[in-house]
Amino acid sequence: MNNVKSELSQRLYIETYGCQMNVADSEVVVSVLQDKGYIITEDINEADVILVNTCSIRENAEQRVWGRLDVFKQIRKKKPELTVGVIGCMAERLKEELIEKKKIVDLVVGPDAYRDLPNLLETAGSGQKAVNVILSKEETYADISPVRLDKNKISAFVSIMRGCNNMCSYCIVPYVRGGERSRDYMSILREVEDLFKKGYKEVTLIGQNVDSYGWESGEVNKTIKFARLLEMVAKINPKLRVRFSTSHPKDMSDEVLYVMAMYNNICNHIHLPAQSGSTNILEKMNRGYTREWYLDRISAIKRILPECAISTDIMTGFSGEAEEDHNETLSLMQEVKYDFAYMFKYSERPKTYAARHLTDDITEEIKARRLTEIIDLQNKLSEESKKEDLGKIFEVLVEGISKKSEDQLFGRNSQNKVVVFPKNNYKTGDYVFVKIMDCTLATLIGELIE
Ligand code: SAH
Ligand code: SF4
Ligand code: F3S
Repeated sequence: MNNVKSELSQRLYIETYGCQMNVADSEVVVSVLQDKGYIITEDINEADVILVNTCSIRENAEQRVWGRLDVFKQIRKKKPELTVGVIGCMAERLKEELIEKKKIVDLVVGPDAYRDLPNLLETAGSGQKAVNVILSKEETYADISPVRLDKNKISAFVSIMRGCNNMCSYCIVPYVRGGERSRDYMSILREVEDLFKKGYKEVTLIGQNVDSYGWESGEVNKTIKFARLLEMVAKINPKLRVRFSTSHPKDMSDEVLYVMAMYNNICNHIHLPAQSGSTNILEKMNRGYTREWYLDRISAIKRILPECAISTDIMTGFSGEAEEDHNETLSLMQEVKYDFAYMFKYSERPKTYAARHLTDDITEEIKARRLTEIIDLQNKLSEESKKEDLGKIFEVLVEGISKKSEDQLFGRNSQNKVVVFPKNNYKTGDYVFVKIMDCTLATLIGELIE
């Protein structure tokens, strides 16, 4: 029977771009389609259906997908019955335009319509174009068990909320992901327990602004907030590491920091996107905090969690950014001493407040120069942060064999820094203690402490 089924089954190949939300969503998509008999394949040439889960955050994120669609067109030349679908944020933003512009796209599905994929694929299979980009106020896919697509089976993303209500003036996310909604905390706990039973050692709770998580538990005046959720997840098992992302500076509470301090298995790392060090620019970005407020949150982290690593997102060249504002960003970075940062040039996104009311007035040349200055500074800060780790002993969760040598393993410490060390008899999923002896730009290098 099984053989017959697999011969009839369609083979699905899925490619994912963008943030952790998209990685988690692709796992929901595979779950929905596997239930209907689709078989996942990693070989694109074997696929009957290609889905590309897309990102719209910056123009170059979309460019990459247009490029991939050209590649899929070549594949279809050899296989006319191939179905190609665009899903995710770019699908939501461009809708039917994707089908019209690219003669290769048969299916366009937004991030809240994945339950409808089996029907839509059937429609597409019969030669009609299939589109569903309806955003939902409730959809959290709470009851769907994601099919994990990661290779090492050690670390998983668990989505705790969807959408965003913040309306930062530059950002496309609220338009392509809809309003914020939290997922039932019971379904989150069940998912994490299940992951632990399956051998997973680390979960990352994800949302665009985890600090505004809230679930009405049904009892009077009992809203489960993020600090409480984090604690419940941490209590599942002390051998399960817990991470979360993204924290929002305007909402990050001391309460969360105290919970982190109480549980060893909640990792000592906070990703706290600053975007800019200038209050003037932060206001134009509608971020809801000032430079002083941000620095106050940083000192709370350093006070309550002295061992905590801090990373950030920085965007340069936003509308009206003067040299003075740029210098304030550099000085903020220096003051915080980030361990790590993602750094971007501002890219104007259609429909956003900034696109409608502000001008993208910083030249490409200036954006590029400022970005280089920001990256150079961060490289220096990252190096200093690693040098401070020399001689320290960290607990490391083993994630696999090092790319450079078969005799070395790699993993991350609580601070999310990559550590490379000798293999001995250890394997993926083990916890080991490593003393840091050396470092490169991207990694700490250490010796095992038996
Ligand atoms: N919800 C998170 C960020 C999600 S998007 C937060 O609020 O921090 C990830 C990062 O992409 C942002 O932090 C920002 O630095 C960057 N980004 C968002 N919109 C952008 C745009 N229009 N141009 C360039 N970078 C952008
Ligand atoms: Fe975008 Fe701001 Fe929401 Fe982050 S908080 S997703 S930057 S609107
Ligand atoms: Fe991109 Fe959508 Fe995430 S726009 S950053 S994939 S929410």
